[in-house]
Amino acid sequence: MLPANFLWGASLSAHQTEGAATEDGKSQSVQDVRQRNPKIADFSVAADHYHRYAEDINLLAKAGIKALRISIPWTRIIPDGLDDVNPLAIKHYHQVFNEMHNQGIEPMVTTYHFDLPQVLQEQGGWIKQSTVTAYEKYVKVLFQEFGSEVKYWLTINEPNVMLLADRKILGFSYTHQERYQAFYNLMIAEKKAFQACHQLCPQAQIGPVPNISYVYPGSAKPQDIRAAEYFNAIRNWAYLDFSVRGIINPIFQNYLHQTGIDLKIKAEDEELVQQNFPDFLGMNYYTSVTVEYPKAGQNRTSGMSDQQSEDVYEKGFYKGLTNPYLSKNDFNWTVDPLGLQTTLEVVNDRYHLPIYITENGLGAYDELTADYQVHDDYRINYLSAHLQSIQQAVDAGVPVQGYLPWSAIDLVSVHEGMKKRYGLIYVDRTEQDLKTLARYPKDSYFWYQQVIKNNGVNKDAKTV
Ligand code: BG6
Repeated sequence: MLPANFLWGASLSAHQTEGAATEDGKSQSVQDVRQRNPKIADFSVAADHYHRYAEDINLLAKAGIKALRISIPWTRIIPDGLDDVNPLAIKHYHQVFNEMHNQGIEPMVTTYHFDLPQVLQEQGGWIKQSTVTAYEKYVKVLFQEFGSEVKYWLTINEPNVMLLADRKILGFSYTHQERYQAFYNLMIAEKKAFQACHQLCPQAQIGPVPNISYVYPGSAKPQDIRAAEYFNAIRNWAYLDFSVRGIINPIFQNYLHQTGIDLKIKAEDEELVQQNFPDFLGMNYYTSVTVEYPKAGQNRTSGMSDQQSEDVYEKGFYKGLTNPYLSKNDFNWTVDPLGLQTTLEVVNDRYHLPIYITENGLGAYDELTADYQVHDDYRINYLSAHLQSIQQAVDAGVPVQGYLPWSAIDLVSVHEGMKKRYGLIYVDRTEQDLKTLARYPKDSYFWYQQVIKNNGVNKDAKTV
């Protein structure tokens, strides 16, 4: 059984939904300037949520949603990245939070979702310590301005996927050295956010929001087991160990050492790292990952394309492969609800903190019928199976306190545009044609409404 006060919600990010990319003083972020396939939607209008937030919040409230995760763009609040606070943006988000509260929805706010101000990127971005200082200043503005309106804060969305799938998400690649310099700066920035949040809004709670997917070995071969242990450390535990335990994960540290990087917590950061911790964990989960030890002659470009195991590779350490026991979605991502239960149990075993699932969802080609319906039973099956997994994890003692699936409304996928839809609510536009941008609840919306009413899914509901 799920707890009576379980936080039923849904998730969004600013750049994928808001549009209004040049309005009200907003500057460009790395997402606005990165090279994209011209055939897919860009972020200039997205789902037009900046103008239609009241309508969206209203519809979500009717589904019974109690929390909405959004992100605030740094480029709206401090367009020059460093100094001048933009009063129009402050006013806008006060209005957004007001609307949520009027509709009985609790905001959960991500301070940063892949959208560094371009002006800071041009000065080196996350590989520069100056970006950490700028981020601290930015989040202090958020906490001061919105501290009394927001109970749940999330720091930096998926720093792990952002660094490992840099080309896909940011449009450029870090060198190995830069990637781990950025890792350290991101982790220190997060610690500063924990500190500032606790100082400036002691009634609020804050947590990290990595993408955590348990990594399976491709076989029982000892080398494959080690490959999985390494990738678990590099992809998952390095981030949470820093946030929650204030340490550099030893397997990760050894991997860095073997690849020519000596990473230690700097003496001047020790106190910050050891004294500032999260109140809960935000966790995004789409699927598990499977790796083996790379065989001779299997060289390929290092890197990772977000959640597709096949693209994961690092010479001498691990190589991703398709797990033959799992089905795949329309976009070649495997589907593994049981993997969520395993991931939750392992995360709980390691960190003992309350957990909110801050993203989980199915990207699919949806079709709007002539009578404005979307029959997305495949999404219902996916969400239902993952919720059953969460319920089993809760029964096994894992303190999952909320579920905020991806995504509340259709949005522009990170690199696959508008055709890859995640929403509970359909947004009427295509890649190139903005059409009416009208909203239509999908079958999954009505299903979710019932789930919220019943505080969970039926044990014998259909699964994937
Ligand atoms: C997560 C991101 O990694 O995955 C979201 O936090 C993203 O921003 C989601 O949309 C799904 O990925 P994609 O590439 O299908 O949009």
